[in-house]
Amino acid sequence: MDSGVPPALGLPGTAVEAVLRAAGRAPSLHNIQPWRFRVQPDVIELHADPTRRLPATDPDDRELRLSCGAALFNLRVALQAAGVQPRVTSATGQHAGTRLDGNPGPLAEIRRAGPAAPSARLTRLMDAISARRTNRRPFLEIPVTDADRAQLSSAVEAAGCRLVQLSDPRQREAVRRLMLQAHRTQRANPAIRAEFAAWIGRERTSADGVPAATAGLTPEEGDEWVLRDFGQGAGPRRQPGKDYERDPLVVVVCSYYDGSLAELQAGEAMQSLLLTATTLGLAASFMSQPIEVPEARAELRQLLGPGLAPQAIIRLGFGSPVPASRRRPVSELLVSESAGHSA
Ligand SMILES: Cc1cc2nc3c(=O)[nH]c(=O)nc-3n(C[C@H](O)[C@H](O)[C@H](O)COP(=O)(O)O)c2cc1C
Repeated sequence: MDSGVPPALGLPGTAVEAVLRAAGRAPSLHNIQPWRFRVQPDVIELHADPTRRLPATDPDDRELRLSCGAALFNLRVALQAAGVQPRVTSATGQHAGTRLDGNPGPLAEIRRAGPAAPSARLTRLMDAISARRTNRRPFLEIPVTDADRAQLSSAVEAAGCRLVQLSDPRQREAVRRLMLQAHRTQRANPAIRAEFAAWIGRERTSADGVPAATAGLTPEEGDEWVLRDFGQGAGPRRQPGKDYERDPLVVVVCSYYDGSLAELQAGEAMQSLLLTATTLGLAASFMSQPIEVPEARAELRQLLGPGLAPQAIIRLGFGSPVPASRRRPVSELLVSESAGHSA
């Protein structure tokens, strides 16, 4: 089917379409897929989609920009895999600390810097784009090796951010407590509950939102790490030996500063981490509540120490296969030439 994607950066339309499809495989809060692309002969623009905001859960669009950053990272990888070395300019001024209410212009512009010869690592990252999934199920009781942990840290550092691995028991306990508090705060907020309800439990055929089939075990009082209940009580039940792992690797992706540019960069770092984890055979899931609730995030900052802005909390380990969530077709992600709105 012709999706109407024009040629760009020296690639034919079909190749550009494949690149945009890879970008759209990025993770996003509640699978809202808040990105759009404007394709011109010499530039691909990445835009946020303000119609997909979650104003109660993500009032400052921080996670929306993280998600767009993840799509940007995929776009870079896919372009290189297609033989194009990208040059990315991220928009700064007009976005600094703003919401997306007006017409803020592109988050990033991607141009052709020259040809690329994909390395073996790049090819593995490219394969990981479609293999990666958020895995909310229990992981095996197998520790992540020091060598793998070092690779995960390098993946985040290469994208200009810092990975804090929570290993100190007191720090882990404090983050666990923050998670529980933040989870309760959010459950008590009707607007946040309504947004959650609107995007979860979607049929497997829906092109966005979180399908019930990807839910974790139904949470119980006293769970060590409080995960969101995407199955709304109907998810898989606990069975003997199928409880959550006792000692997951819990990491925090941090930027070195605040603001929209840092959020875009942290989204790239987060995706670099997730794809690298996938290449290592590691599964991952998010635990975002303490970063979404402002009081909890302030405490988390204190815990992590000066100079670090926490952006994403991620649990990593060895998991069993889970189904993929769906994505919108590329044709729905295009911004039209004239209006700056969807075609
Ligand atoms: C910024 C951000 C925050 C997220 N927070 C959570 C979370 O708190 N709990 C959760 O289970 N999933 C969370 N997710 C994962 C999304 O629900 C998931 O990416 C989306 O449903 C698409 O599924 P996929 O990652 O398997 O492709 C988050 C994703 C992003 C990008």
